[in-house]
Amino acid sequence: MLSTEFVNVYEVPENVQQILLNSCYNCHSNNTNYPWYSYVQPIGLLLENHIYKAKAELNLSEFGDYSVRKQRSKLKSMISQIEKGEMPMTSYTFIHREARLPPEDKNKLIDYLKTLKNTSHEN
Ligand code: HEC
Repeated sequence: MLSTEFVNVYEVPENVQQILLNSCYNCHSNNTNYPWYSYVQPIGLLLENHIYKAKAELNLSEFGDYSVRKQRSKLKSMISQIEKGEMPMTSYTFIHREARLPPEDKNKLIDYLKTLKNTSHEN
C-alpha cells in the first residue's frame, strides 16, 4: 500500500484498519472493488457515480497528500458522518452487507478517529 494511505499516515491498529477496509475503502480509495452487481445497469452507473463523488470528497488512498488542515477537517467529517449514521451509505450496505458497520465497530472506529483528531501530523 502507498505511504499516502490513511492506514499508513497514522499507525492504525489492525482491528480499526479492518473496519475501514470493509466499510469505507470500497468507495473512498483508489482500490475500489467492483462487486458483481456493478455489472447490472443502472446499478453499475449509480455506483460508479457514487464512487466518483466519494473519492472527490475523501480519498483515503491519498490522505497523506492532504494538507494538515484538510486532514483535520476530513477527520472531523468522518466522525460526524459515522456518528450520524450517514456513512457507510445505507443505499450501499443494503446490498453490500459485509460493508455494514455494527454498533461495536462503529464505536471502535469513532473512538479511534477522535484520538487522531487531537494529534497533529507532519506533512
Ligand atoms: C457506497 C459508497 C460509500 C461508502 C461505502 C462510504 N462512503 Fe462516504 N461518501 C460516499 C459518497 C457518494 C459521498 C459524497 C457525498 C454524498 O453524495 O452523500 C461520501 C461522502 C463522505 C464524507 C463527506 C466528505 C466531506 O468532507 O464532507 C465523509 C467524511 C465520508 N463519506 C466518510 C465515509 C466513511 C468514514 C466511510 C466508512 C465508514 C464511508 N464514507 C463509506 C460514498 C461512500
